[in-house]
Amino acid sequence: MNVSTHNPTRVAIIGTGNVGATFAYALMLSGLAAEIVLIDVNKSKAQGEAMDLNHAVPLAHPTRIWSGTYEDCAGAVLTVVTAGAAQKPGETRLDLVQRNTAIFRSIIPEIVKYNPDGLILIATNPVDILTYVSWKLSGLPKKRVIGSGTILDTARFRYLLSEHFDVDPRSVHAYIVGEHGDSEVPVWSLANIAGMRLPMFCAANGMSCQDDALDHIFQQTRDAAYEIIERKGSTYYAIGTGLVRIAEAIIRDQSTVLSISSYIEDYYGIDDVYISLPTIVDRGGAERTLRLELSNEEIAGLQNSAKVLKEIISQLNL
Ligand code: LAC
Repeated sequence: MNVSTHNPTRVAIIGTGNVGATFAYALMLSGLAAEIVLIDVNKSKAQGEAMDLNHAVPLAHPTRIWSGTYEDCAGAVLTVVTAGAAQKPGETRLDLVQRNTAIFRSIIPEIVKYNPDGLILIATNPVDILTYVSWKLSGLPKKRVIGSGTILDTARFRYLLSEHFDVDPRSVHAYIVGEHGDSEVPVWSLANIAGMRLPMFCAANGMSCQDDALDHIFQQTRDAAYEIIERKGSTYYAIGTGLVRIAEAIIRDQSTVLSISSYIEDYYGIDDVYISLPTIVDRGGAERTLRLELSNEEIAGLQNSAKVLKEIISQLNL
């Protein structure tokens, strides 16, 4: 494979299962990366994905795509980890923690060995815990190790609210914070459309803002993965698209506010844990976490989320 002499934008993807392959496909279509290297313990799978993707390149964007080894992480602006066991019907994301932590103990040092200067983005579940594990194992600065977190839950939340209020989902400004999982928290107090808090939007537009309708929207958001996994076995389109959005903010240095999993300290008594809050994402990674002014109920929910995650992290002997 001819190696470019200049410094092309390279993204390395560890794991070419449904999420990794879908992310690679969406990333190729986006034209964001000049190089995409696929790394998987199943080399034949990575080769097959690279071959299939390369046949789309003439119809999309000039992109060099190959299946490689951890040495190919060198020079990557971003390494995205999707490898590991995925939830099966009836499993929670937290059920995966022991299996995937063991896998990460072999993956993360290999990435850093060849790429001590890049960013690491974790998508494998339980993503908040595995992002903390990756930060600890990598020795990299906190801001350079991030997780997809609740970018997906926030997208689901906005979609469902947009259906309820009959507006473009991109015009709904609402966040899910905390764990990417069962303890996640909807920030109702700050949710708005055109700056109008939802009750005001409802009143001004003769719409229903009944608590049970909104509670149902949050329950659908929180439990979406279970519903999809029951029907099609796993989720990958929305998470793959979320990973591209994070990659775009990094590669283009956009300073975009995204609800990703970043290291939190001294926030409503929450310390030394990775959970999702709206975070400014740029070429340097998690540049700054926005310290939202939350309602008492939301604070309690976020503190519970952090407690759930820290209890599990404390048992991992990191
Ligand atoms: C989901 C997986 C990515 O929520 O955790 O679909």
